[in-house]
Amino acid sequence: MTGIPDTSLSSENNRLTDKRASHASDVAALPIGVFDSGIGGLTVLKMLRDAFPAESFLYFGDLGRSPYGSKAADTVRRYAVQITDFLLKKGVKMIVIACNTASAVAGDNVRNRAYPVPVIEVVECGAKMALQMIPEELRDFARIGVLGTDTTVKSDVYVNRIYELARESGFKQPDIRQQACPLFVPLVEEGWWKGEVSEKVAEHYLGAMKSFDPHVVILGCTHFPLLADPISRALPEGTALTDCAPAVVGEVRSILNEYGWSAADNIAADELNHAETVFYCSDTGDTFRRQAERFLDMSIEFVHHVDLETCED
Ligand code: DGL
Repeated sequence: MTGIPDTSLSSENNRLTDKRASHASDVAALPIGVFDSGIGGLTVLKMLRDAFPAESFLYFGDLGRSPYGSKAADTVRRYAVQITDFLLKKGVKMIVIACNTASAVAGDNVRNRAYPVPVIEVVECGAKMALQMIPEELRDFARIGVLGTDTTVKSDVYVNRIYELARESGFKQPDIRQQACPLFVPLVEEGWWKGEVSEKVAEHYLGAMKSFDPHVVILGCTHFPLLADPISRALPEGTALTDCAPAVVGEVRSILNEYGWSAADNIAADELNHAETVFYCSDTGDTFRRQAERFLDMSIEFVHHVDLETCED
């Protein structure tokens, strides 16, 4: 990536096309758009907010239409493109698809729709993180577990990407075992992040994964890091867990630096405390707000309700 991308083809509503916002410093003031089917993407948002305190964020949780993981790929594609249009209309400098299911089946659609606004998807990030975590001496014998939604697992997107990355790095094809864990999603949305029920569901799903004895397990759904404790206990002691969030932070950082879009570098010091996170939800927002406040450890005054099909608020 070099220089500021040609913005002439972006949505006419996006401020990236606006002459007044054509300088890097104007683009820098725009927020970063982040979306997921519900609260799972908050695991990514949290790390982004911690890493970039000067940046503003727009978060869209499609709670009215979740879960995505049991829906047809075409349906998830339609939802992802609608949310992309909504974020572009609001004006964002970058989009993070903080949902593995949407990344798996709609990554290219979102990229094409948002162009030239950069799009980061989480599957690539999760696959890279997993390979980085394999110790040098195990690189030719790696066993990697992938936990995801039904749609993500069926798409084989992790398997294919890990094979490609392994080939590019010159080590043998890792042994990969996938497991769909759809019930983890409603457990997380309900706030049952610990306790007997979560432990039992984790044990139920992860019996075969335990026997596989993986070196690293990818939490291939952004909801799953919230269940890291029960998941860890259901796997052999010491199994490494990884998720996409640290790699997403790295991708966002390199775009901000290469395009000169970092708010911290462009906005006067006394303006920096104006960074804010605005939340949008396709459901009434009460449950979302409760869980988001708990997870992000912040008070959220308002969650804007957005109409599902028209994406109007
Ligand atoms: N958090 C999402 C993911 O990463 C989707 C969960 C769902 O809605 O099924 O796949």
